[in-house]
Amino acid sequence: MGLTITGLGTAIPEQRLTNADLERMVDTSDAWIVERTGIRERRVAAPDETSATLGTDAAAAALKDAGLTPDDIGLLVVATTTPVQLFPSTAVRIQDSLGLRCGAFDVMAACSGFVYGLVTAAGMMTVDAGLKAASGGQPGGRPFLVVGTETLTRVVDPTDRSTCILFGDGAGAAVVDHSVEADGGLLSWDLGSDGSLVSLLEVPPGERWLRMEGKEVFRRAVRVVVESSSTALQKAGMTPEDVDLFVPHQANVRIIDAVCSRIGIPLDRTVVNLDRYGNTSAASIPLALAEAAEAGRLTGGEVVLISGFGAGMTWASAVLRWEPRQ
Ligand code: ACO
Repeated sequence: MGLTITGLGTAIPEQRLTNADLERMVDTSDAWIVERTGIRERRVAAPDETSATLGTDAAAAALKDAGLTPDDIGLLVVATTTPVQLFPSTAVRIQDSLGLRCGAFDVMAACSGFVYGLVTAAGMMTVDAGLKAASGGQPGGRPFLVVGTETLTRVVDPTDRSTCILFGDGAGAAVVDHSVEADGGLLSWDLGSDGSLVSLLEVPPGERWLRMEGKEVFRRAVRVVVESSSTALQKAGMTPEDVDLFVPHQANVRIIDAVCSRIGIPLDRTVVNLDRYGNTSAASIPLALAEAAEAGRLTGGEVVLISGFGAGMTWASAVLRWEPRQ
């Protein structure tokens, strides 16, 4: 019994921060930002918006997309790098505001968080199915919600031109259920981390703003995404030619270009939406998936490779075969 995505939803703050706005804030230019990153604008959460409110809105949209109600959901997993507070989790706030009646917890793996959350959900679904089968019951169970939600602009120094141009706010959510096709849903995954690289990208303890060694993150990101994607494809018994849609973490278009050319996946089979949202960390992959589905690029049968990297460093890839709507 695999895991398949049956609904997707997003929540995007109204306020746009364009490159022209940034030109007025720091010593930068639209041309520099577009050439070095591909980003043209990002969204900024309103004062009353948090990772919990954005996550709630994205999750509600995903529930609607799946044709479900809060009572149908058996577990909530929330990936966020920018929780509302140290504790309790952002997940319990989303659980309460949506009126879910299930367990809820956060996953912290920075920009790899959504894929970590998806794989965690898949593991718990498999356990659920196994326990039911062992006790003689019917396999199956309630669907889960996996949410990626961020308010990264709140931890970015607005006077630091090397970071304030990169990040944006937003949320994406997926309803996941037991797959119905023998070769459908989540086919393989690869998760990795290297904690010796904490200082490459972090909010240092006791400090307010994130610090990043951009060049080194860039170099290592290309390497880990290529390696992790290849591992996930191998585990699924597939090659890059089999991939119909590649959904990479949206950090920098030059990272995506380099990864695509090294793996051998053409850009026309790759989702790029960072020009409009910047880097939304754990929200970026579900946001991109939702846009791809909306654009008719995910109708059923497609082999989808998702791959993220982020602070830690962490990295995470998964291969799914998209299942048509029932
Ligand atoms: N505008 C104009 N000039 C700038 C800007 C700016 N916004 N930012 C930096 N510069 C300058 C630098 O000061 C430097 O000037 P110098 O040569 O006089 O010293 C020059 O531009 C080149 O700077 P680099 O840092 O070498 O530029 P680079 O080409 O590496 O691009 C960037 C910087 C865009 C940050 C790139 O390194 C990058 O994208 N790295 C990856 C970052 C990333 O993906 N982070 C997210 C990880 S995911 C997560 O966990 C959140």
